[in-house]
Amino acid sequence: MTPQTDPCCESDLLPSLGVDHGHCAVVGLQWGDEGKGKVVDLLAGQFGLVVRYNGGANAGHSVQVGDQRYALHLIPSGVLSPNTLNVLGNGVVIDPAQLVKEINELRGKGVAIGDNLRISDRAHLVFEYHKTQDVLYDQAIAAAMGGAAPIGTTGRGIGPCYADKALRSMAIRVGDLLHEETLLDKIGRVVTVKNTVLSALASQCGQPFEPFDPETIFRDTVELTKVLGPHICDTAELLHSSIADGKRLLFEGANATLLDIDHGTYPFVTSSNCSSLGVHTGTGVPGHKVSNVLGIVKAYQTRVGGGPMPTELNDATADRIREVGKEYGTTTGRARRVGWLDLVALKYTATISGATGIALMLMDVLAGLPELKICTGYTHEGKALKNFPADPGVLDNLTPEYETLDGFEQAIEDCRRFDDLPENAKAYIARIEQHVGVPVVMVSVGPRRDQTVLRDV
Ligand code: IMP
Repeated sequence: MTPQTDPCCESDLLPSLGVDHGHCAVVGLQWGDEGKGKVVDLLAGQFGLVVRYNGGANAGHSVQVGDQRYALHLIPSGVLSPNTLNVLGNGVVIDPAQLVKEINELRGKGVAIGDNLRISDRAHLVFEYHKTQDVLYDQAIAAAMGGAAPIGTTGRGIGPCYADKALRSMAIRVGDLLHEETLLDKIGRVVTVKNTVLSALASQCGQPFEPFDPETIFRDTVELTKVLGPHICDTAELLHSSIADGKRLLFEGANATLLDIDHGTYPFVTSSNCSSLGVHTGTGVPGHKVSNVLGIVKAYQTRVGGGPMPTELNDATADRIREVGKEYGTTTGRARRVGWLDLVALKYTATISGATGIALMLMDVLAGLPELKICTGYTHEGKALKNFPADPGVLDNLTPEYETLDGFEQAIEDCRRFDDLPENAKAYIARIEQHVGVPVVMVSVGPRRDQTVLRDV
């Protein structure tokens, strides 16, 4: 069975999106969950390769094809398109147990996983001890700081794995799976040190701690390698030879630009460069090769976990948007925080990620709201801010300036052409383009592939 049956997928979308040549990155411009999976799935058939460059199983891309919904965490969303090669680049952190689970689930739904999946031998591995460390760190630091706001991670071990990558001698790479002796040796050394650190952390948190057994981890990992081994290769070499063969590459961002470790709302971020800037270090493909960046933007704002969110709402409008937009995490099931669209933050992230076009997602969710607010400025201590601030204390205490636009009454999920959209929806889109200076090239009006409006160019 092949899951792709929508005609929308077969037509050539790229000229309408301004992506008619070269390689393209699809990147979230808010705090994640913007709908990148749907866009990558739509475009994948028109690219030879879909490449993940950052993050790990903290990401959750849900893709709906017909009545079937696929929740992907590690495997690129291109897996639902035949003839597309899916690559996990060196910048991804891979939980081998989760990856095997995902492969098995997809196979169970009839999706072919074979030569169409490649995993970088330079990517790093996430183990169970990373997840324990993730949770304990957040708790221990919050306790040590007298109940300071925790980052509220997904608990998938992402931060500790990237930290071990930076520490080097604590890291285990995908390539190590192919050398049992090296793997056994590394697991033995690393787990000994981890047990020391984790037992101290657990005791600080007042929790029991059962030391990890290196032999069990080794045995389990060897079993998982039976599934993963055939997919492991030098993916940088593969990408460059594919480019030389005239293939086109689509880079699939995970998480989003406001969660970027360098440019996001630090420290309330994830541990990778999830802006488009991560494409290059996370795959080995240099900057000048990627000429198009499609920025994925939700028609409102959401955030999961801790950290500042200037336009957050805690009222009946937020509840309504959360319910209609099904704003509950794909990875953790947590209710997402909801707010009005923040154009100050969006202008900043569109600039950092170099967005050449915007795909505006979940526009249908706003239908029926009598008015729509949109944040176009910040003031702090009585002064207008010129830039998006780095300081979380400032972000937490600023006052958003809103413009109020008329809402649109009618449901829009059956709109297929830009001209079919209500005038007030078009005015909302025009205001985004005017403030951010980037064209909105696609509007999503529902989860299905066919519920997509392309801008006539
Ligand atoms: P971590 O990536 O699990 O370390 O979590 C760090 C922060 O990023 C937490 O606030 C998470 O909720 C948030 N986060 C990480 N990945 C995603 C995502 O894909 N969507 C939304 N939030 C995310």
